Amino acid sequence: MAVLKILKYPDPTLKQLSLSVERITEETVRLIQDMVETMYAAPGVGLAAPQVGALRRIIVVDVDYENPGRNLIKLINPEIRRAEGEVIWEEGCLSVVDFTAEVKRAERVEVVGLNEKEQEVNVAAEGLLAVALQHEIDHLDGKLFIDRISRLKRDLYTRRLKKMLRTGKPQPESPRLMI
Ligand code: NI
Repeated sequence: MAVLKILKYPDPTLKQLSLSVERITEETVRLIQDMVETMYAAPGVGLAAPQVGALRRIIVVDVDYENPGRNLIKLINPEIRRAEGEVIWEEGCLSVVDFTAEVKRAERVEVVGLNEKEQEVNVAAEGLLAVALQHEIDHLDGKLFIDRISRLKRDLYTRRLKKMLRTGKPQPESPRLMI
């Protein structure tokens, strides 16, 4: 297994649409293992394949950060089957440096996908898990959480990021859960 490099906004790969996995190969399984290791090393509670430069519809999520591995979810070609309610959650992202913002999502979702053995996996989720699943599936469609906030807030962040990149000094936000 290997810890992979996580691409950071504004890397153009993060804007691209990921393709469905047609065949689950040894390489797919290895990629998923590496994604899991990368997520735990970050540390984060979710990761999508495009964040490590693989434009394939694969996500890993583990919101039980106190017991890593116990409730790990790995999904190939995940799809939201049902979405209900509304929740506002303060989100961060491993690909968006030093920024969090409130994002509106469905409160409960049912997500269907495949595991590495090509078996169907069905996840009914609420709270942070529901948020994380929606956030990761967004990544597969080339969408970041900052695409779901107001333009004004996004522009403020983009300006702050440019300044950070210029001066090399991150201006830290308080530490939060990164998805
Ligand atoms: Ni993210």
